[in-house]
Amino acid sequence: MANITIFDHPLIKHKITLLRDKSTGTKDFRTLIEEIAMLMGYEALRDLPLEEIEVETPICTTKAPVVSGKKLAVVPILRAGLGMVSGILALVPSAKVGHIGMYRDEVTHIPHEYYCKLPDNIGDRTIIVLDPMLATGGSAVDAINLIKERGGKHIKFMSIIAAPEGLKALSEAHPDVEIYCGNLDEKLNDDCYIVPGLGDAGDRIFGTK
Ligand code: PRP
Ligand code: URA
Repeated sequence: MANITIFDHPLIKHKITLLRDKSTGTKDFRTLIEEIAMLMGYEALRDLPLEEIEVETPICTTKAPVVSGKKLAVVPILRAGLGMVSGILALVPSAKVGHIGMYRDEVTHIPHEYYCKLPDNIGDRTIIVLDPMLATGGSAVDAINLIKERGGKHIKFMSIIAAPEGLKALSEAHPDVEIYCGNLDEKLNDDCYIVPGLGDAGDRIFGTK
């Protein structure tokens, strides 16, 4: 059974409500996506391993924890996942960034891959896959298939809004992946958009419609 976290933090709830509002413009939408990703990342990175180093305070020398050299990779699903990258990098600036390009066919809603470039030694890294929307789950399932085919093992997936259909599909296809969702919405509509959702995340982040 997949490990699923649905957030109940009031700040995340508040910011998601602002995201949903159709009058929220591109600039604020981008800022909110980044802030929510950072708040979710704080929790999703709770298991980062620590190691002790020696540090000299103004008072004495002591041993104190720092995040150990465990390698982290952040992998946004293009386009909309790009909006979440800066929020995670604000927490872990040295993380490497890969990219997976996916678009959903407008009629069939089946995802198609058009780009994949992952950091070296992907099998040794903790990988955080980012996409604000988990709708049918097709894009997330295929993106994680690609990562696993290239050797990725320890994978987390973060979405800001999920539909029950997508959450089920992803957790069944990849029960080993830890899933973090900012909110679980009601359902998908006939066009496979999340209801109530926030519309097309890519278009709202990049101002393309
Ligand atoms: C959106 C979104 C996800 C996908 C979710 O991308 O960013 O990647 O749809 O839908 P699914 O769970 O049903 O696969 P889209 O295909 O619209 O591409 P874009 O980000 O380039 O706009
Ligand atoms: N992709 C989006 O951007 N929004 C949805 O509601 C579903 C898929």
